[in-house]
Amino acid sequence: MLLLSIPSVALLFIIVLVNFIAWWSLKKHLVAVVAPFLLIRNARRAILAPLLNAHADFGATQHHYTMKIPHTRREFLSSSAAAALAGSLFGPMGSASTNVQSGASVGHSSAGGSSAAPRRIIIDTDPGVDDAMAIFLALRSPELKVEAITAVSGNVPLELTLPNALRLAEIAGRTDIPIAGGASVPLVRRLITAKYVHGNNGLGGVDFPKPHLKPLGETATQLISRIVRANPGEITIVAVGPLTNIGTLLRSDPEIARMIPQIVIMGGSLSGGNITPAAEFNLYVDPEAARIVFDSGIPVTMVGLDVTEKVLLREEHIVMLERAQNPVSQAAGKIMRATLNRAHTGIDRTVIAMHDPLTVASLIDPQLLKLQDYYVEVETEGGFTAGMTVGYAHAPVRPSAPLATATASQPEPDTSFHPNARVAVGVEPDRFFKLLMSRLTS
Ligand code: BDR
Ligand code: CA
Repeated sequence: MLLLSIPSVALLFIIVLVNFIAWWSLKKHLVAVVAPFLLIRNARRAILAPLLNAHADFGATQHHYTMKIPHTRREFLSSSAAAALAGSLFGPMGSASTNVQSGASVGHSSAGGSSAAPRRIIIDTDPGVDDAMAIFLALRSPELKVEAITAVSGNVPLELTLPNALRLAEIAGRTDIPIAGGASVPLVRRLITAKYVHGNNGLGGVDFPKPHLKPLGETATQLISRIVRANPGEITIVAVGPLTNIGTLLRSDPEIARMIPQIVIMGGSLSGGNITPAAEFNLYVDPEAARIVFDSGIPVTMVGLDVTEKVLLREEHIVMLERAQNPVSQAAGKIMRATLNRAHTGIDRTVIAMHDPLTVASLIDPQLLKLQDYYVEVETEGGFTAGMTVGYAHAPVRPSAPLATATASQPEPDTSFHPNARVAVGVEPDRFFKLLMSRLTS
């Protein structure tokens, strides 16, 4: 018995030894393979953190951080310059994120493409025909990592925008994206919708199947708050509907503003409105929420009608979408065909303006828009002008003259200039359509 077990023990010893040697050499190889990636990643972080002036300094427990987000004009401008420099070093917008996009189509090499780490965004939206195009564009662009989609009332009520958001993510094959519903009415006003542009269902009247995907149990503001707080300084908000969800979040939690490095909004105009002569639709629906956003200290990029009405979808684009054989281009083709048909029946031709996709595209290809610093006030009192964005290109910021009956004297206007937004004032339409078409039809 004892004699029999000696060879067995020896054999066992040899097996253990061989396994140990194999494990040891594999480990060395793994280190050799992984080390350069870690080195590059850490070097990038070390360079980008001071450049972007927005970093999280995690304490021993990793529960405490300190962050610096630019709030003064000088900080904002130097941060923009740093972002531009970082952008030229590391790709669009100098994203400091190292996360890899999950499940998205990757490897597009068309206009604006880049191999840099994707920028992490949350899309707040009211789909909406152009919202649909914007969501598709974001979900098919490797430069962006969509962390969540939140729905708000706007073009149509929330009962429709939320299922539309679920439907669109499902069509794009992105059932991994968390989606939550938010505000059903503006902060203090009655809801005005734009069914006359977006059709009764918000998708041009095109009948898509009921989505299987379900929204999260939490609200839009809870979801945004959770993601932003877990990733301070990392998440850009892209808001392409009325700003009720973001206004609600900032009103209940003003501190969170310091954790949001940028909000890019489709909304406003320096050159007249589209729903009234003064106001653009998103700002018109909830001017009070917009005012909270512009006053929040978050660096705002305003992509308004000044540029979005210069990117008008044409018949040839719709044909390209219809010809391409993928579910996204097919759905986009149907929605835009229905919208164009509606436009032919008398509605203003700017209904086919790619407002929301241009806003998303500006994050994919920063060269698309020319931006200028402005101090933007949102009109909330006018009987005919609520939602108007009044942009001051320089100081002084002078309000309307006080009424003769006013008791308090009006202070002298501040002569120093404090911009609160970068406003899009120029666009390259052909470059935009090249990007949009390539992403949706590939
Ligand atoms: C904006 O209003 C909505 O109708 C569009 O989706 C876009 O967000 C344009 O004024
Ligand atoms: Ca919209």
